[in-house]
Amino acid sequence: MKKNLLKVISVILCLAVVMTGSAFMAFADGTAPDEAPFRISVTMNGDASTQRGFCWYTKANVDNAVKIYDELGAAVAATVTYEEVIEWDGNYCHQAVVSGLEAGKTYFYTIGNDKVESPVGTFKTDDGNDSFNFIAIADVQASSDENFAAAAKVVEAAQATMPDYEFIVNLGDFTNDSTNEEWDFYDKNFKAINASTTLVPISGNHDGLGVEHWFNNMFCLDTSESVQVKDGVNYSFDYGNAHIAVLNTNDILAMSNAQLKWLKNDMNGTDKDWKIVFMHKSPYSLGKDAKWPDALYLQKSLAKVLDKCDVDIVMSGHDHMYLRTKALENNKLSDDGTVYVLAGTAGTKRYEVRSFLADHYLDTDFIAAMTVQKNGYANYWNGSDWTQTKQTNVGGAFNCVSVNGGTLTVTAYVLADEPDANGNDVITVIDTYTITKETGKNEITFTGDNTTSELEYNLGIVPSFLRLAAYALGEWLPKFLFMLPDLLDVVINEGTF
Ligand SMILES: [Fe+2]
Repeated sequence: MKKNLLKVISVILCLAVVMTGSAFMAFADGTAPDEAPFRISVTMNGDASTQRGFCWYTKANVDNAVKIYDELGAAVAATVTYEEVIEWDGNYCHQAVVSGLEAGKTYFYTIGNDKVESPVGTFKTDDGNDSFNFIAIADVQASSDENFAAAAKVVEAAQATMPDYEFIVNLGDFTNDSTNEEWDFYDKNFKAINASTTLVPISGNHDGLGVEHWFNNMFCLDTSESVQVKDGVNYSFDYGNAHIAVLNTNDILAMSNAQLKWLKNDMNGTDKDWKIVFMHKSPYSLGKDAKWPDALYLQKSLAKVLDKCDVDIVMSGHDHMYLRTKALENNKLSDDGTVYVLAGTAGTKRYEVRSFLADHYLDTDFIAAMTVQKNGYANYWNGSDWTQTKQTNVGGAFNCVSVNGGTLTVTAYVLADEPDANGNDVITVIDTYTITKETGKNEITFTGDNTTSELEYNLGIVPSFLRLAAYALGEWLPKFLFMLPDLLDVVINEGTF
């Protein structure tokens, strides 16, 4: 208790010192709005105990610096390695890696120059203990200020529900069309959230797909082992007693052979107790996008790798509903298998469920829990049968994850779109589950170089496409033709597919 009180006092002191030190978006000599940093993010980048990546934008091409403070407001002599400032779609993108931090510490920071400085942000470094919490959200995918505001409220509800979280995972599709206007709306509504923690961003198919280096220019990530950086980034890091791999499902439709090889080596190169994967597209889903071969093929290609590496849980997005599978191995039920969680959308774009897909692309026995977030009639799998239920819009979803030794617990919630009669948030649990395991069992079986050369990647493009084409023609298409009547029924009755 005493320790907590001291911590609160020191944080208040720090904020007071830093903010009175001219740091609160001050314009010292008139104005310098074009030099003011915006779209500021702090991301995992390499060693989570000692390093962070910083990315920010300015309207003008100016120099500005990252300043790090400790809990007492004293400047910290961390090493800041600046990347080249690049002009990006009319703005200037700045990136820096801050290293030499201490494990298990809360830090504060500002970004600016002698004319203007950002508001104070904060983040905490990993203390290496086998107990930590994080928040996971997916598919904000908004276009308007109003819809970004609604999604930010969902994340604020997550922060209030689990105040001792250490980072926020965004499972992709930050915006709808990745325009400057949308990113400015995102920044306006998420800046306080992003200033409060470390982000773990995952590249989604709406995140500038096809615009070279886009994702890499919005977040400062460790790209040293990414198999490509054109359409997203794959990277990994350790946190506590977990090894976390972030995949890029924009990579050759869903997953190149090169990325599968990287994942296998990456997961075999750790002896951490927990092996966690974050990615955007979901192999197991019943949302309206669950009929396409790119994500479905992950049931085969990715699952094989995950099984061999004993990955415990995969969290993903893309299909704007919530669905958790039972533990699966090699596409079959297995107590020692991997749990796949489609995390639900935190945004306002919510999908219908296509229950008929379950007859073809997802064994209903695999479903442990599901929630449809959209208005209207929804089909639910109750464990033995499908039922049609009148469903009101349940709200935006968020996931609170706690790792504690050999126990990993996830609780998924929705925040109702409207408050109750007293103006209070209505937060409802939609799923909760626990995975347990014996710790200290994993062994390192890969110690080599896990980078992919450009030549190696390019040589693998054709086999990656052929592999997907063989699946699409040989397995996916016959099933698709079989379910065509169901799909036509939806098109006729609902006017969508
Ligand atoms: Fe998506």
